Formats: sequence, C-alpha cells, structure tokens
Amino acid sequence: MTMPMDLLQRLTGLVGSAGVVTNASDLEPYAVDWRKLFPGKPACVVRPTSTEQVAGIVQICRESGTAIVPQGGNTGLAGGAVPDPSGTQVVLSLNRMAAIRHVDPVGLTIEAEAGCILKVAQDAAAAAGRLLPISLAAEGSATIGGVVAANAGGVNVLRYGMTRSLVLGLEVVLPDGTVANGLRRLRKDNAGYDWKQLFIGSEGTLGIVTAAVLRLLPRPKHAATALLSVADPAAALRLLALAQDELGDQISAFELISATSMQLVARHAGLKAPIAEGEWFVLIEAASSLAGLREAAETMLGAAFEQGIALDGVIAESGAQAAQLWALREHVTESEAREGKSVKHDVSVPLTDVPRFLSEAGEALAAGAPGTRVNAFGHLGDGNIHYNVLVGADHDAGVVNRIVHDVVAAFGGSISAEHGIGQYRVGELARYRPSTEMELARTIKRALDPDNRLNPGKVLLP
Ligand code: FAD
Ligand code: MLT
Ligand code: ZN
Repeated sequence: MTMPMDLLQRLTGLVGSAGVVTNASDLEPYAVDWRKLFPGKPACVVRPTSTEQVAGIVQICRESGTAIVPQGGNTGLAGGAVPDPSGTQVVLSLNRMAAIRHVDPVGLTIEAEAGCILKVAQDAAAAAGRLLPISLAAEGSATIGGVVAANAGGVNVLRYGMTRSLVLGLEVVLPDGTVANGLRRLRKDNAGYDWKQLFIGSEGTLGIVTAAVLRLLPRPKHAATALLSVADPAAALRLLALAQDELGDQISAFELISATSMQLVARHAGLKAPIAEGEWFVLIEAASSLAGLREAAETMLGAAFEQGIALDGVIAESGAQAAQLWALREHVTESEAREGKSVKHDVSVPLTDVPRFLSEAGEALAAGAPGTRVNAFGHLGDGNIHYNVLVGADHDAGVVNRIVHDVVAAFGGSISAEHGIGQYRVGELARYRPSTEMELARTIKRALDPDNRLNPGKVLLP
C-alpha cells in the first residue's frame, strides 16, 4: 500500500524535505524494534523540529485518518515504537528535537526536548554538579521522550524511584493536535488534576511528549561499588537486609545477576567477574556526599562473610574498577541477544517472594517447557526480575509466557515491571489485568483519542 500523495505533500510542506524519510533503506532503522521481533512498514517517517510542527503533523494525520507511531531512540523492549506492517502508519520521530533548554543547579531541574538522548541530559546535569538519576544500559540511545513515555526504571529505582517520580512538568501534543503545556518547574502543584501522570508510561498511546522538566539531585561526592557472590536468591535477600542495616538510604542499586548471565557476558562480551564463580552475584552501589561510605561498605562486606551470606566479594578501588563491575551487568541484555532466541519476561513480585518465585517458575518451566534455559537477572532491590528464557527453535514463546506469567500471577505480581506493554505483551495484559482496570484504561483512551489514531494496537487490544 502506498502513501496518499497529498498526505506526503502536506507533511513535506510543513517540515521540509529533510524532515520526511521515504527511501526504503533510510526507513529501515525506524521500521523494526531493537529485538527485531516486530518488523513493521512505515508509510513514512516524519521528523519535526518544533512542538508547533508536531501539532501540525498530528492535525494533518487526523484529517487524513492516518495513524501515528511516536518514536524516540527505538530502544524499547516491548515493540511499542514501531509501526505495523500495513504500510499506512506514519512514524513520528522526535530525534531532531533534542535541545536541553535549561539546567537549574539550585532549583534542581532540567528541561529538555523529547529527542534529547538520556546520556546527554545526564552529562548536562553532571556538568552543573547535579545528578539526573535515571540510568539504564540503553542510556546512550534512549531519549527523554521515550523514557517518560515508557516510565522507564533502570538501576537506580531503589533510591530515586521510576521516571514518574522525577517528572515535574510535561509538554504534550494531544491526539486532536492541541498542545498542553505543563512545563512547570514546581515541586508542589496541587492545582487541579495532575494530568501529566496520564502520559507518563502511556507508551505513546495518549499523546506525544515534546518536552519535559525533570527533577535533579545533588551529586553525591562518594560512591562505593561492590560485587559479591552468594549461594542462592534467599542469601541475596539476606544481603539486602544487611546492606540496608550498614548503608541505610545510601544504597542506590542492588542488582541480581545469575551465573547464566555471567556466562553469557563472558562468551559474548569477553568480560569476566573478578571474584570466584558462584550461582548468583549481587552488584551493590551506594552513594553519599558524606565521608565514611567506603568504611561502611567494608563493614558490610566483612559482616556478609562472617554471617556466611557472601561466598566471595570485592569492593571497587577506583572509578575505573567500578565501571568494570558495572560493565558485567550492563552487557547482559546485549549478550543474551547474541546467544540466540529468548522469551523475555519483565516481572515483579513482592520483594520477599523473589526466591520462591524463581524456584517455582524454574520448576514450572522444567515441567512444561523442557530444554529451555533461564537467564534471570535484574533489579532485585525493586522485586523486578528479568526472567528471560533462552529457547530453541521448537519452543513455543506463547507457552513459555503462559507458564511464567501464571506463576507471576499466583504471587500477585506484575507482567511488566518497567518495560511496558507495547505490542509484545498486549494480549498478556488483557489476560492478567482485571476487566474493571482494563475498562478504566479504555475509557481514558477513548476520552483522549476517540479515533484510535495514536499508536493503535499498543497497550490495549484494538
Ligand atoms: P522508544 O523505544 O523509541 O519508545 C518507547 C515507547 O515510548 C514506544 O511506545 C513509543 O511509541 C513511545 N514514545 C517514544 N517517544 C515518545 C514521545 N516523545 N512521546 C510519546 N511517546 C513516545 N528499560 C527500563 O525501564 N529499564 C532498564 O533497565 C532498561 N534497560 C535496557 C537495556 C537495553 C540494552 C535496552 C536495549 C533497553 C533497555 N530498556 C530498559 C528499555 C528502553 O531503553 C527504555 O524503555 C527507554 O525508556 C526507551 O526510550 P526510547 O527513546 O528508546 O523509546
Ligand atoms: C536491564 O535491566 O538490563 C534491562 O531492562 C533488561 C532486559 O534485557 O530484559
Ligand atoms: Zn531492567
């Protein structure tokens, strides 16, 4: 199906020919998701440079009955940012709207356009001596708009919360083409409904985020990074309790890495843990502006050995060593992708149920999908495990999903802790979320986007 000429002409008239991509090879990076699970076919990609242009594009598409798929860095893991294969959907890429509009080191805010790369925003905050604590392995490509639209988590949620807790203001283009400008830098604002919350985590189905004001924090002067090996997930939880006792609210990350994850990282990234091999590893980071952090970390490590919780462990001696420890964790996703086919699960269960969840899910898979291998890792401090299952050609992804998600449901957990629903989990959400909650979601969608033009087929089934 080809794109109507008048639509192309109107879009080109609005953003100029440099802002419209139609050439098949140039369309490729926008057409398929990071995991290459959902190959789509855009009618075209349109790349505005201003909020007014975004509003104009939405109006033009509305008049022609064309669906729009917002896209940032296209690093999403749920297939939310790519079009369907019909060749009729327009991808609206925010990558030419990338300015940082202001950094306020005293008011502790940063205002950035949606296409600004997360790492660029982190660096701008750091240059002002402040911290933007959203941190994830894709931060070199993920954008502020994508992070907000996905309500991204990452490794610092334990201390600083999800993206939602850092958003102070938003500018959004609504499905009817109007602009809602809530780019306020206020820490307190109870004047009416807090409508921006609707758009955070809505995965581009309710509006297009064009800019955001995010909260910054004072930059901690000291950090301590430790890697420990433990016998099992229950020991990892005992370690969390110990770390809470010794390091208190200074803990900013508490990440679980399985031996399988470490093996994948060794095989595909050539990186090896500098401690004796165990079945499970925990990467802990603590940060503080007060002195004495390293001593507290050493006390924790000593107590972990004494109490038989840790089998081996190391505390980084320098920033470079800390980066090496983090590299082990950050390469898991990419190494898993290189290993072959996997069925990802981004689940959360109540924190203290994680060990039981891991053993019950493992048993259920061994019984229902023999021959699969589990690559479990993730944000243990948040009860969020990436329970990814490495499968062969004969395994049915749907069967694997059902086995794992049934166990998640039995623990009262969530089938997506941070990656979102996109198109990957759209059927699973409908299955596991109670119908009252699904109907509430549909009511919100209908109110804002009655014609279902914004990212149709994502989050909610058509
Ligand atoms: P995209 O992938 O482009 O889009 C994501 C969703 O948001 C889509 O539904 C899209 O339609 C919508 N969207 C994008 N921009 C806008 C906009 N301006 N307005 C409205 N809707 C928009 N995620 C985590 O939460 N935690 C992690 O630890 C984590 N680690 C990752 C590690 C790797 C190696 C990779 C590849 C991904 C990881 N992710 C993680 C997933 C991903 O990086 C995040 O979800 C990120 O927030 C996506 O940003 P993006 O700019 O790439 O968005
Ligand atoms: C991560 O935490 O590294 C990503 O969110 C995980 C994934 O690949 O499932
Ligand atoms: Zn994650």
